[in-house]
Amino acid sequence: MKKALHEAYAVCPPGLEALCAAEIRGLGARAVKAERGGVSFRCTTRQLYATNLWSRLATRVVVRAAQFEATTFGGLEAAVRNEVDLDRWLGGRAPRLRVSSTRSALYHTEAIAERLRGLWGDPGENVAEGGDRRSFFGEPDRDDESDPSLGGAPLVIVRVVANRFTVSVDCSGEPLYKRGWRQEVAKAPVRENLAAALLMAVGWRADQPLVDPFCGSGTIPIEAALLALGRPPGFLRGFAFFEWPMFEPGTWASVIGQAAEAERDPEGLLIVGSDRDAGAVEAATANAARAEVADVVTFEERPVSSLQPPDGSGRPGWVITNPPYGTRIEHGGDLRNLYARFGSVTRDRLPGWSVAMLVADRRLAAHSGLSLHEVVKFSNGGIDVELLATHA
Ligand SMILES: C[S@@+](CC[C@H](N)C(=O)[O-])C[C@H]1O[C@@H](n2cnc3c(N)ncnc32)[C@H](O)[C@@H]1O
Repeated sequence: MKKALHEAYAVCPPGLEALCAAEIRGLGARAVKAERGGVSFRCTTRQLYATNLWSRLATRVVVRAAQFEATTFGGLEAAVRNEVDLDRWLGGRAPRLRVSSTRSALYHTEAIAERLRGLWGDPGENVAEGGDRRSFFGEPDRDDESDPSLGGAPLVIVRVVANRFTVSVDCSGEPLYKRGWRQEVAKAPVRENLAAALLMAVGWRADQPLVDPFCGSGTIPIEAALLALGRPPGFLRGFAFFEWPMFEPGTWASVIGQAAEAERDPEGLLIVGSDRDAGAVEAATANAARAEVADVVTFEERPVSSLQPPDGSGRPGWVITNPPYGTRIEHGGDLRNLYARFGSVTRDRLPGWSVAMLVADRRLAAHSGLSLHEVVKFSNGGIDVELLATHA
């Protein structure tokens, strides 16, 4: 039997499209193309499940359900009635809608949503999230929560460009960076998919020691441990496609089974996070336990000024970190001093190590005195940031 192929799209943080495309190509998808704010690709059902489970960078994955043209509300309703059948995905459940429209006769997104609700049903206080969007599948920075008041209603995304409607169904449910293990956060946590992006962008390898001296809730060390173990980032969570009438439990079981077999031995991994804040270290430790990497990652309460090479690191490794950004910190005076201290400590105590840091202000980073170049730029929850590194 010929395998069903899906036209899929992975939304990712702007700036990470090329890395995300490489990741999706590695999962076996075809026609993979990096676009603005995401990656389009064609895949089998198995690969669709695997992409949701394995993508460390994507925010969500959607599949295209229909395309048609309409310039009037009557034309829209007729096209949806005659050409769009969402039953395979929704099984009659009323979806929440995200509608965007550009250069089209039908431009009022709430009015479009209202007509569609008339045909597909209304899950409750459904608000069409319309308007002027930076990327098709919604502003990634607004892609935060599935609205709990809607009781997990499936998400359908309608995009209108030059009178052409594209209807897509969400496969992921909660954004994919919500892995399930980070239930405690310290100040200014970096999203899990961005932490993974730092590691992947600099090409960190599991045989290299890794230190994060500003570890906060432990996101970078925990993502590193999952990456090193070859454990899928989504192993603790569920996905919207579980609810589809066309869901294939056997295919899913096989994807999960293969992942369990692929897990690597933790032998030789050296991953350490530290933070001066006791609460942050406590949160990081609890998060690591939930992620089932407590044996693989060590967390310590210490200020960056007392940074040491981790025990057993006979070889140089990577410092990969996300220092505080902003203008002031509470106790330590000016941030410039903190960056200067960070630079001198890494040079003196970790000679030969590579350093990568996620920063919002390049001038601040320059106070470290490290010779840094740009690896990648992207947006972290609405703030433009860049990853700078000494080597890559
Ligand atoms: C931007 S946050 C890191 C967030 C972290 N990547 C996460 O995902 O939770 C910066 C962290 O640096 C810590 N910090 C600030 N000054 C410090 C210092 N002098 N030494 C060690 N840690 C410090 C703060 O407690 C905070 O947790």
